[in-house]
Amino acid sequence: MKKKIVVTGGTGYIGSHTAVELINEGFEVILIDNLHNSESIVAERIGEITGINPHLEVFDLCKRKKVRSFFRDNPGISAIIHFAAFKAVGESVNKPLEYYRNNLVSLINLLEAMKESGIPSMVFSSSCTVYGQPEKLPVTEDAPVQPAISPYGNTKQIGEEIIRDTIAATQGMKAIALRYFNPIGAHPSGLIGELPRGVPENLVPFITQTAIGLRDELKVFGDDYDTPDGSCIRDYLHVVDLAKAHVIAVKRLLSQSHKNNYEVFNLGTGTGVSVLEAIKSFEKVSGLKLKYTVTGRRAGDIEKIWADPSLANRELGWKTESSLDDAMKTAWEWEKNIRNKFKSS
Ligand code: WQD
Repeated sequence: MKKKIVVTGGTGYIGSHTAVELINEGFEVILIDNLHNSESIVAERIGEITGINPHLEVFDLCKRKKVRSFFRDNPGISAIIHFAAFKAVGESVNKPLEYYRNNLVSLINLLEAMKESGIPSMVFSSSCTVYGQPEKLPVTEDAPVQPAISPYGNTKQIGEEIIRDTIAATQGMKAIALRYFNPIGAHPSGLIGELPRGVPENLVPFITQTAIGLRDELKVFGDDYDTPDGSCIRDYLHVVDLAKAHVIAVKRLLSQSHKNNYEVFNLGTGTGVSVLEAIKSFEKVSGLKLKYTVTGRRAGDIEKIWADPSLANRELGWKTESSLDDAMKTAWEWEKNIRNKFKSS
């Protein structure tokens, strides 16, 4: 019998790539999404890639009665991977209550339903934003969590705490929080990828949209930081590598011999890359010259952060396989596909 895994936010960027890897590893996948920031056609695309169509349930996890009835009507779920959340840092500053309500009420509803239905395991989508600007680099999981700069970041910090406290109080329940660094790229099939609505806030979609002519130019937010070339440093990892870590985390939670009830792992490459280096990588793989200018710093930006992924390397047996260039290449292929082939109706 296949083990049943629920992927919330399953038609979103990381959720869809994770669903593919889960199906490839023999799990039965149920996607839950309210399609607030994604398209139902993504479920079909997952089916095209894997040969197995995942079931998609469209509803809002903030609706407590619906969440309870869904889990009552769907017994035998082994684990939940919880991606569903609002994720725009800038927007969260202007709409804090929407962010707190959406990201935290959905999590509480899920945890309550897990307790009620006896679902033992959750993988939680967390973020390196919990570290703020770390004093020591690369950053390990032991680094102190710093006051969040945005309401979005705060929902991830509070989310981790809610899960930790619930696990401590609930016999038989386990969770793993995965702190992502900067996921980029798309599935090599060209069938799924990131679909930002409106003007992207993140670097790589902004680069590819500029290259394809949707944006006039990229603005590099600052070249006067204390870094070798003056631009900010991040740890960009391929979304497929990230997706694979979720499958490993699920298997770890499901294994009877695994005794730790609550664990946290950094997911990154371990290498810091500057904004200007990221642009160079894009230019190299696309053969294009990117139009960009250097402007002022973006409020709230961290100067430099990259992961120490050795805990995940050691404990999960996971490490990134794709290079920055590989990831950029798939991001660019995907951008071209969105315009040419991606039709949502
Ligand atoms: C990367 C770098 C910008 C756009 C993201 C998420 C955040 C968290 C961590 C998940 C920065 C620069 C960007 C542009 C630029 N992830 N940049 N021009 O800031 O690391 O945050 O990852 O929880 O929620 O948003 O990523 O892609 O926005 O920026 O120069 O037009 O690119 O200053 O140095 P960031 P990003």
